[in-house]
Amino acid sequence: MYEILLDLHNILRWVIVIALLYVLVKSWSAMNAKRAFTNGERKGALILLIAAHITLLIGLYQWIFGRFGLVQGLPEGTVLMKDKFYRFFWVEHPFGMVLAITLITMAYSRVKKGVAKPGLGGKVFWLLLIALIVIFFTIPWPWRVGIGRPIFPGVGM
Ligand code: HEM
Repeated sequence: MYEILLDLHNILRWVIVIALLYVLVKSWSAMNAKRAFTNGERKGALILLIAAHITLLIGLYQWIFGRFGLVQGLPEGTVLMKDKFYRFFWVEHPFGMVLAITLITMAYSRVKKGVAKPGLGGKVFWLLLIALIVIFFTIPWPWRVGIGRPIFPGVGM
């Protein structure tokens, strides 16, 4: 069961990254053309919102009850902020991602309004650009020494 949730958390990362890039490009075009968002773009932003919120729920579960979650406690002698692995999975990854998901949620409410009201492209663009940067830096990419995880379930590690 835990493996399934972990794989889902891993795969949803790609749904988030792809949907985020799509809405980011569309908000850039809406900003430059000073146009309203289309219904299709709203649906793209909704997919992003849903994927981000499911990932958040799974992540919270992993963070608290996971194989090295909060309830397991720190191994004997580990100092949280001095241990790269625990600092990443207990602090940097969860807090970075919660910030990014908050920005995605704020962006979605503006995309929704922006279907009827042109001029919200810029706000959405900047919110999502910051979210993308935060996500990019807080994903445990396989090449990150000591914290790297598979690029796709069962691939590359
Ligand atoms: C945009 C949101 C998020 C993305 C893209 C993301 C991405 C990832 C990825 C790719 C992994 C590695 C999965 C694997 O080993 O196959 C991971 C692991 C993990 N994530 Fe997230 N995550 C997000 C949000 C969160 C949040 C909000 C939390 C906690 C509150 C969280 C907690 C964790 C934990 C604890 C692990 C390690 C679980 C384990 O290996 O047992 N994640 N995350």
